[in-house]
Amino acid sequence: MASLTVNNQPLEFRLEPDTPLLWALRDAANLTGTKYGCGTGECGACMVIVDGQAMPSCTLLLGEAEGRSVTTIEGLSPDRSHPVQQALVAEQAIQCGFCTPGIVMTAAALLAHNTDPTEADIKSALTNICRCGVYPRLVRAVQRAGQAMRGAERLMPVPAPAVATTPGI
Ligand code: FES
Ligand code: FES
Repeated sequence: MASLTVNNQPLEFRLEPDTPLLWALRDAANLTGTKYGCGTGECGACMVIVDGQAMPSCTLLLGEAEGRSVTTIEGLSPDRSHPVQQALVAEQAIQCGFCTPGIVMTAAALLAHNTDPTEADIKSALTNICRCGVYPRLVRAVQRAGQAMRGAERLMPVPAPAVATTPGI
């Protein structure tokens, strides 16, 4: 059993404390936007924000997340209005999309601390693996998201999901 806050909601997971947070989120909380890639903390597909820091949820155990605040892609912006999401679309930095939630969470955590990162800052923070190879467009997208957060650019809204989300999640 572990109690934590997920997307601003208190949740109690009736799972073993050595359950990876990734599986607690996906299988118990039905938050399937967080993806499984490697399971070893290297690919970044499973990134979530824990107490303000981007972390791979595949290597963070439920017991280690006890009492902490976790944000998943569903909680970051249910209507896809986060500047990182808008900038990724504007720069066409999404292909198959499997890596995208992890990239969004990593970039959102970076920009929450620094809205004007250098190319080196971005490359250092975004070590996420993208098998489609969107890397050349990623730096520009993150820079544009930062510009939007600083009020220096207005990005086009992207369509909201055409489904209702579970109330409270
Ligand atoms: S699935 Fe967690 S880092 Fe790859
Ligand atoms: S867009 Fe396909 S893996 Fe990144």
